[in-house]
Amino acid sequence: MNIIKAEDYNKMSRMAANFIAAQVTLKPDCVLGLATGSSPVGTYQELIRRYESGELDFSRVTSINLDEYKGLSPENDQSYRYFMNTNLFDHINIDKARTHVPNGLEENAEKACADYNALIEQCGGIDLQLLGLGNNGHIGFNEPDASFAKKTHCVDLAASTIEANARFFQSMDEVPRQAYTMGIQSIMQAKKILVIVSGAGKANIVRDAFTGPVTPQVPASILQMHPDVTLIGDKDALSLLQV
Ligand code: F6R
Repeated sequence: MNIIKAEDYNKMSRMAANFIAAQVTLKPDCVLGLATGSSPVGTYQELIRRYESGELDFSRVTSINLDEYKGLSPENDQSYRYFMNTNLFDHINIDKARTHVPNGLEENAEKACADYNALIEQCGGIDLQLLGLGNNGHIGFNEPDASFAKKTHCVDLAASTIEANARFFQSMDEVPRQAYTMGIQSIMQAKKILVIVSGAGKANIVRDAFTGPVTPQVPASILQMHPDVTLIGDKDALSLLQV
């Protein structure tokens, strides 16, 4: 695993954008696996800046997002589709028809997941997967569990995740309890994985995930088994790792 320590969130974002930009430049028709949350916002801003300055062309890129809340429409400003549109897709020349997020409005979970698995296969797999890291070690919405879930599935969100997400909703009742998420197998099949982490609050879980035992109780720990993972973190998030 390649571990890169950045001075702060902005530098982490610039380094992560370098990484993604290299992927898009070397393979203009690449498949990017994308994430939402606070970690990638700066990276997306940096990618937008590079697109605007003519350095990057996303016209042939396909994207596949990790997850979506079950029950939220793309127009809901808390849905992950809305997040991706407003934080990235609306500002670059990616073809929206080639941007994919699980269908939160599909009530039939089996169908929603089968459709998404078929889509990932149809796209030929993921060249570069961008990941954030949940406070409990989740990646996508693969929560701590007794085993590693393989493919896209519907999850009951952990209480700590519901609590962490509550800041984005008017009331606790509005926070979705379920989500569709790509599984660990689909994530692990990505050719390259880029994990970004920032803030002292992530220091313990970064240490557990990347130097602790590989266990489904810390889903991100499986990344230790992937042949091409880069972790870019600010110094606070990496403070408990020997880099
Ligand atoms: C988002 C996702 C989540 C987040 C994680 C970290 O699509 O799949 O796993 O990456 O919860 O969130 P932040 O970046 O907000 O700390």
